[in-house]
Amino acid sequence: MKNKNKTVWSNRFKGKTSQSFQKIGSSIHIDKRLYEQDIAASIVHTQMLSKQKIIKSEDANKIINGLKKIKAQIDKGNFEFKEKFEDIHLNIEKALFDIIGPSAGYMHTARSRNDQVVTDFKLWIKDASKEILKDISLVMKNLLKKAEKNTDTVMPGLTHLKNAQPISFAHYLLSYFEMLKRDKKRFENNLDLLDECPLGSAALSGTSYKIDRTYTAKKLGFKKPTDNSIDSVSDRDFAIDFLYASAVCAMHLSRLAEDFIIYNSDAFKLISFKDSMLTGSSIMPQKKNPDPAELIRGKVGINYGKLNAILTIMKGLPMSYFKDMQDDKELVFSGFDTLKDTLTMSAELINSVNANKSNMLFMANQGHTTATDFADYLVKNKSLSFRQSYSISAKLVNFAEKNKKLLSELSLEEVKKFYKDLDKSALKVFDVKNSMNMKKSHGGTSIINVKSMIKKYKKEI
Ligand code: ARG
Repeated sequence: MKNKNKTVWSNRFKGKTSQSFQKIGSSIHIDKRLYEQDIAASIVHTQMLSKQKIIKSEDANKIINGLKKIKAQIDKGNFEFKEKFEDIHLNIEKALFDIIGPSAGYMHTARSRNDQVVTDFKLWIKDASKEILKDISLVMKNLLKKAEKNTDTVMPGLTHLKNAQPISFAHYLLSYFEMLKRDKKRFENNLDLLDECPLGSAALSGTSYKIDRTYTAKKLGFKKPTDNSIDSVSDRDFAIDFLYASAVCAMHLSRLAEDFIIYNSDAFKLISFKDSMLTGSSIMPQKKNPDPAELIRGKVGINYGKLNAILTIMKGLPMSYFKDMQDDKELVFSGFDTLKDTLTMSAELINSVNANKSNMLFMANQGHTTATDFADYLVKNKSLSFRQSYSISAKLVNFAEKNKKLLSELSLEEVKKFYKDLDKSALKVFDVKNSMNMKKSHGGTSIINVKSMIKKYKKEI
């Protein structure tokens, strides 16, 4: 009982740990989230030690049963995490001593917390990445559903936030589908890169015990063991890559949210949201504000912050393990939580969007969005160079602007002032829907293209 409150290193130390150091040094309030991974890795490590006859099978069985009991206690919320024992690894080891007695002392043979923590953390990031991949897929599915209903919904495509060329709302939505597809690849690439098990690298130099690292690696679901023990305990690339992939994904969602906020504004009125995605004002009775979209737009700041923090912590760290790295978990956990919420919110927000089709069409006609189509018509039918046609079309736009007319409102006579040899069929180019459907080049906005892309995407998802 006297040992109950002692740290594993107490015999080497005189006097008590400073209270303020204990507070900053302890990570248990954060890394308790690793308990399942820690216990799973300890069980496999113990099985390996027993298989290799490094520890007795009786001790191994006691350890494994004890670990299972601890897991059940934590699952049920019946476990008391203690700041004094620093982190999840030592909290569990201490509890194991309480449950099974001295046999617990065999568990930490041929390993260190240095390889233990990276193993746990990699396992955790594997699971987290798989969850994020599912959440991204849901957002993609909802984009696809919304796109399917809007392949012939014409809206103004914008560059510089100025009307540029007509596009379909579906094509616009699917641009985010592509971004999210790349996001998934980033997480998948990381899953592939991190698929090497560090367990057995011990403190930094490996171990003199005859351990079987391939066995532990395979049993824990890794492709293979890592090849350099120093790198194994020093590497946090997998956490950085996770936070980078999260930051980019959050950035994409932030852009989508910003678009929606603009399109929903009273100046644009291109889309509206269901009331469930809006909040009121405490003073202005008429207001309906798109707070969820604004939160999605803002959350990326947290994801960038976490990425920046981990890059800064890792910068200039000499080989190999340093306590600086302990904060990596808070960054990854919070980056994960934030992105998860943002993805869930985005999926709902997309579902709640309603396209204001008549205003989209009206707006697509503003700003002379078919001026390029007229230039293209002259190139194709009158053998002019694009620069000649561009200049004729620019003059036509000046004329329309001066006379406060849309291009589609000009008469054949008016158009002919700028290029004589034209008949009525030329006027078709000023129709925004026609303009959209002429864009049949690979990846273009025509209905036919977008429909075939939707078909393809549906198979992918
Ligand atoms: N809690 C520690 C961390 O997250 C575990 C590794 C501790 N290793 C050590 N040598 N102090 O980094």
